[in-house]
Amino acid sequence: MNLFTKKSLAQLDAESERNPLRRSLGRVQLIALGVGSIIGTGIFVMTGTAASQNAGPALVLSMILTTIGCAFSGLCYAEFAAMVPISGSAYTYAYATIGEFVAWIIGWDLILEYALSVSTVAVGWSGYFVSLAHDAGVRIPVALTVPFGKVVTDQSGAAVTGIINLPAICIVVIVSALLISGIRQSANANTVMVFIKSMVLVVFVIAGAAYVKRSNLTPFIPPNTGDFGHFGWSGVLRGAGVMFFAYIGFDAVTTAAQESKDPQRDMPVGILGSLAICTVLYIGVAIVLTGIVHYSKLNVADPLAVGIDATGLTWLSPVIKVSAIFGLFSTMLVQLLGQTRIFFTMARDGLLPSVFGRVHPRFRTPYVSTLLTGTVCATVAGFTPIEVLGQLVSIGTLLAFVLVCIGVVILRKSAPQNRRPFRTPWVPWVPAAGAIICLAQMLGLPGETWLRLVIWLVAGLAIYFLYGHRRAHAARLVSDDPTPELREELEGVRGGE
Ligand code: ALA
Repeated sequence: MNLFTKKSLAQLDAESERNPLRRSLGRVQLIALGVGSIIGTGIFVMTGTAASQNAGPALVLSMILTTIGCAFSGLCYAEFAAMVPISGSAYTYAYATIGEFVAWIIGWDLILEYALSVSTVAVGWSGYFVSLAHDAGVRIPVALTVPFGKVVTDQSGAAVTGIINLPAICIVVIVSALLISGIRQSANANTVMVFIKSMVLVVFVIAGAAYVKRSNLTPFIPPNTGDFGHFGWSGVLRGAGVMFFAYIGFDAVTTAAQESKDPQRDMPVGILGSLAICTVLYIGVAIVLTGIVHYSKLNVADPLAVGIDATGLTWLSPVIKVSAIFGLFSTMLVQLLGQTRIFFTMARDGLLPSVFGRVHPRFRTPYVSTLLTGTVCATVAGFTPIEVLGQLVSIGTLLAFVLVCIGVVILRKSAPQNRRPFRTPWVPWVPAAGAIICLAQMLGLPGETWLRLVIWLVAGLAIYFLYGHRRAHAARLVSDDPTPELREELEGVRGGE
């Protein structure tokens, strides 16, 4: 049993040539794709959780730590993305560098990042939607906005037990339908929404800056409560792990490599450009938010709106809510798009059933995969609390980043002659620092989150050894295009053009 079968770069190039997806995305659209994916529930919702539960005003330190880890990993991602211009994200890069087994682990792990973050963002979206509906006088029964079994207090102070988060389910259904109808249309809608949500963060920072009170920012690092991760320096570390969720998404640019007009040149610009824009916005938001309202008041579903209410600029509150609703929508769009493209590549490699690679004859989108993923994401969103989802997404993605950083170093040694249109600077120091910071953030997350990660990985191993490995092997024996059935289908699609 060979677990280290690698894909050669020539093989990846050939796959890229057989690309049945439409090449429609330029530089600006790729940056918009990245920003669209990054700005979401993390900044609109989890800033409140991280400030009130973990870091206090030192939230900004958590963000800086996360930024450094992401910047280093982003540089590693950019090298791979320019070198291996095919959809699949870290999964594909691992296949080219370390081998099939690790590629599977990463691909399986990325489901946590992409699919589960769609569910997480849907829950965040639901929070802002319910709040806006309430302001407009529309009362949605509380039990229909909270996952099954979770007890919350309603407006009158009575305890209510949740049944299902219905708005979260509905929004995932809408996003899935839009994606099935085609990438060009989705990317254009995305660009408009990205502009709206970036602007509202700029307005939040500018409008709120005048109301920052020194008293809210002292003590800057509240003393630790005695529990690891609750304030003090361990709180800053855990805050970084929680806030990491807010940065996830710049790597989603890489999953659109096959839809990009010039992936070699534009992938690094898309990844690093979107990360830089979001970093500046996030640091501004963190300082202003914890400066205008005391961190202890931020454990709510709509912390930015609560922050603005505290300044007295109440007209701005609905603007923030509406923008969050549109903005989080675009985040889900990009994440779900990313997931279906990863499945597409894994199916083509034989590691997943070929239905995941089935392309719609007219829309040329992987419609079956979108439908299946959308259904699972909607179900998870309807029944799981946001904290559980968010931390699981963070830990899974951090693991993928660690492996990507290590992969860059391995490939520099094993294939030094390969063309690298973009080179990560100061190898091995930058990848090493990236891996260490990401690992530290993982260690900051709670034990239950680690347990869930381990269970997920064990399930992935079982599927790989019982299904994926044999199938991928058989597919390789049949031809150099690992899924003949799918190839036939794709040829049918091209023949019909
Ligand atoms: N970074 C994305 C968000 O914050 C996943 O929603």
